[in-house]
Amino acid sequence: MSKQPPAVTSRIPGFYREHVEQRLRAMIETGLLSEESVRHLQDGGRLTLEIADRMSENVIGVHGLPLSIALNFRVNNNDVLVPMAVEEPSVVAAASNAARQVRMTGGFFGEATAPIMTTQVQFDDVPDPREAKARVEAEQSLIFQIADEAIPGMVQRGGGCRDLDVRVLDEDDGVLVVHLYVDVGDAMGANVVDAVAEAVAPRICELTGGTVGLRILSNLPMRRRVRVRCDVSADALGGPDLADGIVKASRFAELDRFRAVTHNKGVMNGVDAVALAMGQDWRSIEAGAHAFASVTGTYKPLVVWTRTDSGVHGELDMPMAVGTVGGSTRVHRGVRAGFELMGVKNAGELAIVMGAAGMASNLAALRALAGEGIQRGHMRLHSRKQEVQENARLQAKKVERGGQ
Ligand code: MEV
Repeated sequence: MSKQPPAVTSRIPGFYREHVEQRLRAMIETGLLSEESVRHLQDGGRLTLEIADRMSENVIGVHGLPLSIALNFRVNNNDVLVPMAVEEPSVVAAASNAARQVRMTGGFFGEATAPIMTTQVQFDDVPDPREAKARVEAEQSLIFQIADEAIPGMVQRGGGCRDLDVRVLDEDDGVLVVHLYVDVGDAMGANVVDAVAEAVAPRICELTGGTVGLRILSNLPMRRRVRVRCDVSADALGGPDLADGIVKASRFAELDRFRAVTHNKGVMNGVDAVALAMGQDWRSIEAGAHAFASVTGTYKPLVVWTRTDSGVHGELDMPMAVGTVGGSTRVHRGVRAGFELMGVKNAGELAIVMGAAGMASNLAALRALAGEGIQRGHMRLHSRKQEVQENARLQAKKVERGGQ
């Protein structure tokens, strides 16, 4: 029988007051971390130069960021520890705080679509784009076959080409683009779909005429989405005025792109921090998020909050191209430790946790903005942190003296 993972609680009161070593000990005590990950984290979580040199080019060192755990997250009825790598103060505390308010009413609930990535093949100077479109559509099954032959490993794992779309971008100049929709399983899938685009281009060119242009994924994967929702009571938020304020702030973002972009930046504070900790391509996630926000022609918020009788209801919808295999998920020790702690089993589960982290960050920001403003909370956290650090310093000194 396979070993059951230990039951996890993401609720660890007073965690922020502990010394870093004690926090790490609490993570070790979860029993989730492998010995190798424990050693890695105890050693400060540094990437070795050797691994860094394998990951990039012209490497001269490694670049550090704090690795934290956001607490209190309950997602689809399971407690989950959420690793975050971020340099901005308050992001982790704010997300943990909001997650605590959300868990009082059951936590976050979400689902991810099938992992369908989009890849594009561009054609220029196509003599009759409308006619070419019809010819490509008629040859669809042969094109799928060529696509699948280019990615046999992925097909073996249950993935493969699922659909195709032809878009005429400029009829006069004969600019046409073919989209292929590929199930990439638990991979982020960029390499897989790039291989597909390159493989199908010659045959499609025979059908369309003209010349082959770019063959590359689209970072707006409309068919690879995550949706997360939650309810929060007005009591948990600090009263009905704060609940009203959050909804008004959300409406502001719906009405005004200058606010929507900042609202979405707050969402991405959570999403990106988890993406970085989990070794994901955060540039691609960022690009997709903002393109999706403006897909209707007007830039919109990625999370919308509405008033309920008891508090607020939030909904997030956004593309989320993430993977639990490939990329740096295998080479980067810290990322592997992140996966052990989060315990997600597939790319869809990771996407849902990332969506929940985005929602929590957004909720925390709106609650602060609707209440006392962001600066006061920020400064309070800052002085509390200084106080905690000072206490830890005095404690360490005491221990040192006692040992003399
Ligand atoms: C700061 O990192 C993020 C916020 O500006 C987000 C927001 O305004 O909603 C506080």
